[in-house]
Amino acid sequence: MSNMRPLRPIILLVALTTTLCLLPNAAQAQLQQNYYASVCPNVESIVRGVVNTKFQQTFVTVPATLRLFFHDCFVNGCDASVMIASTGGNTAEKDSPDNQSLAGDGFDTVIKAKAAVDAVPGCRNKVSCADILAIATRDVIALSSGPSYAVELGRLDGLSSTAASVNGKLPQPTDNLKQLNSLFASNGLSQTDMIALSAAHTLGFSHCSKFSNRIYNFSPSNPVDPTLNKTYAVQLQGMCPQNVDPRIAINMDPITPRQFDNEYYKNLQQGMGLFTSDQTLFVDRRSRPTVNTWAQNSVAFNQAFVTAMTKMGRIGVKTGSQGNIRVDCGAFN
Ligand code: HEM
Ligand SMILES: *[C@@H]1O[C@H](CO)[C@@H](O)[C@H](O)[C@H]1NC(C)=O
Ligand SMILES: *[C@@H]1O[C@H](CO)[C@@H](O)[C@H](O)[C@H]1NC(C)=O
Repeated sequence: MSNMRPLRPIILLVALTTTLCLLPNAAQAQLQQNYYASVCPNVESIVRGVVNTKFQQTFVTVPATLRLFFHDCFVNGCDASVMIASTGGNTAEKDSPDNQSLAGDGFDTVIKAKAAVDAVPGCRNKVSCADILAIATRDVIALSSGPSYAVELGRLDGLSSTAASVNGKLPQPTDNLKQLNSLFASNGLSQTDMIALSAAHTLGFSHCSKFSNRIYNFSPSNPVDPTLNKTYAVQLQGMCPQNVDPRIAINMDPITPRQFDNEYYKNLQQGMGLFTSDQTLFVDRRSRPTVNTWAQNSVAFNQAFVTAMTKMGRIGVKTGSQGNIRVDCGAFN
């Protein structure tokens, strides 16, 4: 009997390790590369064809799709709940009152890709809108010279989408590092992931209202945010005069607005981050070393971005009775 004693701690250790391994995996075990290999083996090439065509029609497809995926994942998980249209009885996520101003070309890309997938008999109603959005997002990043990566699939489409559920789930352009870190951490993302994902602002547009606080009436002693490059501030004031047409939007990366690259971090080093949430990544000493590293090393940045995108794609994935495959991405079945 006495030789049983040493076994006990080992058994406990094994049990503990098994539990620790199973818990985090349980929420994401169903995602895998080539998930549709047996039902719709060509799904990725079908989506890529639609995304290529859409890209040739308008570059806006790129930032619009990327931001749509981010907003989908951060509100109720990556379940295409952001695609649902409001109805008489329900104001959906995308019409939340915090002015997300999601560009229509992202929705259009997914709707067209879904139609192309469903036109193939074996694929019809087999591929979720959430997965099509994830594939299209991977494709638009590659089309704008960003890194390409194998995309994990197997998400179901969500069964609810309410404007109220958006409350507090999305970061604000006025956020500081602590606020950004806590919001991203609540989605299982580290500060490193957050800094990598923020580089999405190397593409796309912002309305003047999102940063006008930084160029007018910043504080009683400083009308212009002192962390903003003075030359850039004057340029921004020129493009966004006070009482500007609220529909006016400007490039967020003034140097290479159509390249997915590490210029974002170089801009931060020059005080040319558009939002407080961008510039804080360089201003705050806790995140500055990462910004400096990636400003110098685009290979390291690309790797960190792919890691972070893959992690973001696992947020709140729906399985079993939590979801289904939507027939129309904009409406519940
Ligand atoms: C870190 C916190 C973030 C904040 C505070 C933030 C905020 C914003 C704001 C205010 C805009 C301008 C919207 C407009 O005026 O129409 C914007 C645009 C954009 N954001 Fe973010 N964002 C953040 C992170 C991200 C992430 C993680 C991604 C994707 C991985 C992303 C992708 C984009 C893209 C692509 C655009 C341009 C959209 C377009 O041109 O249609 N953002 N963001
Ligand atoms: C959203 O935009 C509308 C019209 O542009 C404006 O009246 C409203 O105050 C904005 N809401 C927020 C929360 O910014
Ligand atoms: C402001 O930007 C210009 C180039 O656009 C750069 O030469 C200058 O060093 C920047 N100033 C600061 C304080 O970073």
